[in-house]
Amino acid sequence: MKAVVITTPGGPEVLLLQEVEDPQINEDEVLVKVEATALNRADTIQRQGRYPPPKGASPYPGLECSGTIEAVGKNVSRWKIGDQVCALLSGGGYAEKVAVPAGQVLPVPQCVSLKDAASLPEVACTVWSTVFMMSRLSAGETFLVHGGSSGIGTFAIQIAKHQGVKVFVTAGSEEKLAVCKDLGADVCINYKTEDFVARVKEETGGKGVDVILDSVGAPYFQKNVDSLNIDGRLFLLGFMGGAVTQVNLGSLFAKRITVQALLLSIDYMTLVHLLLVIMHAAAGLRTRTLENKAEIVSEVEKNVWPAIVAGKVKPVVFKYLPLSEAAESHRLMETSQHIGKILLVA
Ligand SMILES: NC(=O)c1ccc[n+]([C@@H]2O[C@H](COP(=O)([O-])OP(=O)(O)OC[C@H]3O[C@@H](n4cnc5c(N)ncnc54)[C@H](OP(=O)(O)O)[C@@H]3O)[C@@H](O)[C@H]2O)c1
Repeated sequence: MKAVVITTPGGPEVLLLQEVEDPQINEDEVLVKVEATALNRADTIQRQGRYPPPKGASPYPGLECSGTIEAVGKNVSRWKIGDQVCALLSGGGYAEKVAVPAGQVLPVPQCVSLKDAASLPEVACTVWSTVFMMSRLSAGETFLVHGGSSGIGTFAIQIAKHQGVKVFVTAGSEEKLAVCKDLGADVCINYKTEDFVARVKEETGGKGVDVILDSVGAPYFQKNVDSLNIDGRLFLLGFMGGAVTQVNLGSLFAKRITVQALLLSIDYMTLVHLLLVIMHAAAGLRTRTLENKAEIVSEVEKNVWPAIVAGKVKPVVFKYLPLSEAAESHRLMETSQHIGKILLVA
């Protein structure tokens, strides 16, 4: 088969479509003939050599795909040859075929094309497992998502609105904010022209929001804490703006704030004294156990898939490119001009 190979760590030009061995499935896996795969920021970091695939995973990039089942392992009962599916992967989506543990496979929701279904597994599993399963965002609460126009953001807005939540977003341009508003965001903040902390306070009568989903990291940490309500929850998904910062721990105590992510700079004794601050492991889906990933996928099918089938949550696709233009797709993602997901079609 053909797959996109990271020929050496580096810029987008190191991604080359090459002839490689077909993947072999084990008895708990299915073989998917890939229709499309979707880009994730993590792919660009893997390409640079800073996010190696976990042991046993495909060396090719690609954390999600859609396609048709071509073979099934002997322990797999739910799926059969010819089923149209999408899947959460530990790697290998940028290829014509990929082996997937059966527990990470989802049916293509009615009313979504096979191609567009590739845009759903990673955002659905990430947002549902973090914001809803771990941060317990509930109907009637308020939620701020930074990078509202990102793949993660465009999905988070829609599913949170569907769950009866008031949604705040930040983004870097009026064009991006207009799309967020169309997707249902209630409060749209241009972080380049406005102080998001002040706007959040103004819109919530000084209280702050209940949950924040953030990928900017260090430069936003204190501002996020300042934007949270009493008993607020901050979920850190990434640190695109930097990883090291100073925190006023007093403000965490004062509001009984939960921070969910791996805070490496806090030592054990500090943690012992942070009685009201619960620290969880980082959200990364890729390195979770197979059982854990299957549990998340099952929760997503139960809780998110009905909203997609009902047309309440839709894929947001910015551009389709052929697999042979993987380098171009990474260049596009790194400009941050896109809104929603970028797809590579096999
Ligand atoms: N932990 C996990 O399991 C997990 C899973 C999925 C994603 N993530 C993380 O979630 C984040 C979003 O992922 P995605 O695939 O949805 O990304 P994406 O579609 O590429 O969007 C990222 C957006 O973030 C905004 N941004 C803000 N500060 C930025 C900065 N310093 N550098 C670059 N962009 C910046 C940009 O929009 P503006 O123009 O509005 O600034 C950009 O379009 C990434 O950090 C990713 O690694 C984590």
